[in-house]
Amino acid sequence: MNRVYIKTYGCQMNERDSEQVASDLRHRGYSIVDTEHDADVVLLNTCSVRDQAEQKAIGKAGYLKKRKRENPNFVIGVMGCMAQNHGSTLVDRLPDLDLVVGTQKFHRVPDHLDNLIQSLNGQGPRPSSIIDLDAEEGSQNTIRDHLGKKGQVSAFVSIMQGCNMNCAFCIVPKTRGRERARPIEEIVDEVTRVAESGVKEVTLLGQIVTSYGRREFPVVGGKSPFVQLLEKIQDVKGIERIRFTSPHPRGFKQDLVEAYRDLSKLCEYIHLPLQSGCDKTLRAMNRPYTKDRYREIVDSLREMVPSMYFSTDIIVGFPGETEADFNETAAFFDEIRYDMAYIFKYSIRTGTPAETMPDQIPQEEKERRNQVLLDLLHKHSLARNEGLLGTTEQVLVEGPAKKGDKYVGHTRGWRNAIFDANPRLVGQLVDLKIDRATASTVYGDLVLAGVDA
Ligand code: 5AD
Repeated sequence: MNRVYIKTYGCQMNERDSEQVASDLRHRGYSIVDTEHDADVVLLNTCSVRDQAEQKAIGKAGYLKKRKRENPNFVIGVMGCMAQNHGSTLVDRLPDLDLVVGTQKFHRVPDHLDNLIQSLNGQGPRPSSIIDLDAEEGSQNTIRDHLGKKGQVSAFVSIMQGCNMNCAFCIVPKTRGRERARPIEEIVDEVTRVAESGVKEVTLLGQIVTSYGRREFPVVGGKSPFVQLLEKIQDVKGIERIRFTSPHPRGFKQDLVEAYRDLSKLCEYIHLPLQSGCDKTLRAMNRPYTKDRYREIVDSLREMVPSMYFSTDIIVGFPGETEADFNETAAFFDEIRYDMAYIFKYSIRTGTPAETMPDQIPQEEKERRNQVLLDLLHKHSLARNEGLLGTTEQVLVEGPAKKGDKYVGHTRGWRNAIFDANPRLVGQLVDLKIDRATASTVYGDLVLAGVDA
């Protein structure tokens, strides 16, 4: 009864939360398995940001319930954002769920499973579903342990939870609650521990990292708590690369721009959500900045680090977005020359302000706008990668590629790289001479002179 499979939908934070649950369960004597077929317990860690993500998880839960017919002791749980979003009504829709655990209760999963399994093993009636969705003070501090996978070179570190913004399209304030920061020292301790286990790269996670510790910790020497945290992590021995996701244009101040000059480990890649490149749409979205302000941030970063890479999130087909509004967004998107972007078709989220806005955009038009931005992205991403032909870029060797006998890594600018290597090179920073490029990947040979290979 103790083999657990965790399936994760959605963002890096969800992946990180799943890792914490896996670590907690392992300490409690459960084993974490790689496929649902081998499992006695399947936990779905879910995403609510778009309807499609919710439908996927609901479909999976529906499919899994068939296994209960053969094995009445098979356990199905839903955790995370969709649990928080729909609460106990999830059980009305999916009566076979044993466990529904919200975003502030991941650490309770081992206790709940122990209780469920004890009752299932006993003689009594089948226990009713366990539903645990309350807010819990300090829950942000429970996402701190790592599985310590052998050969792991990169790790996510959650620095905060929640979001105090009120973007008109977004369900996250409901699913993740208000902003709560972890203490700087605890985060630095965690980074030190993963570095000691061989991790070379950390990605700091938060819904809005530029708001990190804004209410909890003071500004020191003109530096925000987030920049203070980056400085402390720069000093952690063994860590070679620092990344983070996501900042918000509103909180992006000069101290963070200067961090790119001053902190050698901070990689010159930034994911800065735009959402729309049209001021009218930004206002309707309740995003508190203009495209001119956004451009200023991009320009100041490019001035500081000319090779800076830019990535973004953008939504097409927000209610009321006219053809002209979209064209403005497309022109701005082209102007910024994004190297990477996550382009989303607006999805109605129940309970958000945009749900009831007039002038919803037809699906075909969303598809068309999506494709326009994808084509622009392809153009810029290819141009950027072609610009790397003949140059040498440092890559962190991450491990074998999924297919074939090559290895994968990323440049500091988060370009995907493929090359010949060997297991001894995993976890090392090595120069790559680039001789081939597509829009998504660069290829070449490692420069191994002087490398311990
Ligand atoms: N529809 C489409 N995309 C959305 N996002 C958030 N809410 C919605 C929605 N209702 C996108 C935003 C956000 C990313 C994580 O998901 O671009 O930055």
